[in-house]
Amino acid sequence: MKTKSFQEEIYSDILIIGGGIAGATTALEAARQGLEINMVIKSAGVEGSNSYWAQGGIVSFGDDDDPELLREDILQAGDRINNPAAVDLLVQEGKKTVDRLLIKELKIPFARSSPDKLDYALEGGHSRRRILHVEDATGQRIITAFYKRLRQFPNIHFYFDHTAVDLLTVPHHSRNPLSYYRPPRCLGAYVLDNKSRQVKKFIAPYTVLATGGCGGVYQFTSNPRTTIGSGYAMALRAGARIVNMEYIQFHPTSLYHRDADGFLISESVRGEGARLKTRDGRTFMEKYSPQKDLAPRDVVTRSIYQEMINTNSNYVLLDLVSYARIDIKKRFPYIYRTCLKYGIDITKEPIPVVPAAHFCCGGVLVDLWGRSSLKGLYAAGEVACTGVHGANRLASTSLLEGLVWGTRVAQHIAENFRPELPCNPSQIHPWYYPKNEEPVDPALIHQDWATIRSTMWNYAGIIRTSKRLERARADLEYLKHRVDKFYQEAPMDPEIVDLRHGLLVALMITYAAIANPESRGAHFRQD
Ligand code: SIN
Repeated sequence: MKTKSFQEEIYSDILIIGGGIAGATTALEAARQGLEINMVIKSAGVEGSNSYWAQGGIVSFGDDDDPELLREDILQAGDRINNPAAVDLLVQEGKKTVDRLLIKELKIPFARSSPDKLDYALEGGHSRRRILHVEDATGQRIITAFYKRLRQFPNIHFYFDHTAVDLLTVPHHSRNPLSYYRPPRCLGAYVLDNKSRQVKKFIAPYTVLATGGCGGVYQFTSNPRTTIGSGYAMALRAGARIVNMEYIQFHPTSLYHRDADGFLISESVRGEGARLKTRDGRTFMEKYSPQKDLAPRDVVTRSIYQEMINTNSNYVLLDLVSYARIDIKKRFPYIYRTCLKYGIDITKEPIPVVPAAHFCCGGVLVDLWGRSSLKGLYAAGEVACTGVHGANRLASTSLLEGLVWGTRVAQHIAENFRPELPCNPSQIHPWYYPKNEEPVDPALIHQDWATIRSTMWNYAGIIRTSKRLERARADLEYLKHRVDKFYQEAPMDPEIVDLRHGLLVALMITYAAIANPESRGAHFRQD
């Protein structure tokens, strides 16, 4: 039995779901055009997004660089199943957008090699030093500057601590039978206020998904734990096209420590010369790639995985101190401080590391303007699949993609803006709450997540086989019956909403991996 209660309806020209670089860029560019924007953000503050935690930096052009070289590096990392038009767009627009938005407008204090020269870092898969960075905390500086700027616009309204539950679509959520005769269209979202536990209807003629990725469905991840792919799940239920979900990129180096929960050791550490070694001190990347420790991420990850098996070890070592020609504390202050907290002094000893789920190269299929296959729905950033990354993303291109597509989404909406909604909002279904007031038992949620995460790590992780994937499918499908029932009967709770999203995303990855027998980039089959 379900009941209806008063439901707040909140209107805007654009609803943006997610608060990382893609959402923030869309908001800024659309706000300048005078559009009213609601931003729904799951976390209580700005630090909930992957963008905030990005260490390495953002791709620009180095001194001896050439657009053609960057293009080739992106295609090579992506195993040439990238969308060439999207790669060209990123290469053409990237540096211009960085200069205009980040350097001129937000005044991000990118590191300099001399007072009038920017410092360019190197990362795996790049043939040139071309990555702008602010020490090793680039994302924090960019996102903090963005929100300072966004708060100057009275037409941007922030809804922190709000969890998107489902996209509102017509005809699906319409009570008007005539709406079946019109093309499906998105007009906002049902959103849970995490504090009041009330579901609000956010209504807008344009909705932008900028919810980030889904590393949180894996046992080991560099992402914040709350990054569970809500955007993919909502888009799938709304009927938008989703592609390439099997291409889950694993970052080769996260800190191996019981309490560190996937703390990233930036690829730029290897860019400054660090080398991977087995626990008994042997380098090994020369066996696997001519690019050695700076090979693309998928290659380095699988090499580490293989060496861990060969040496029967749970981790390998990343040795910076023996090779670095830099002031380690100055170049990597954040990594230095964090490792020290866990008892590892990176100026004196190698860092124990393991791979961790890091980035989803697939997602909601969008065109060069960020339009999805569902009218009224745009996507930008990691949740979107523009095709830039193909089967494996080149390091430090994700902030850039969010910036470029965030700009284009805002531009497209502003240039084509029509305020009409596809149906009268009074015809949209109210949210029905279950009558059950009994609080959710956290042990159930904890155990369900443990099952999802270990299943994904062991059966749909770095190395995949038909048998493992089939086992993942069966176990996750079984769990889905229980979680769907749990969701329908329990009082509204952000934890359950996320569990339902995350389980669907785990299934999406698993089904995509089953359907693709070919090893390419981050999807590696061993059967
Ligand atoms: C890193 O610093 O290694 C992460 C950068 C990225 O994922 O592009």
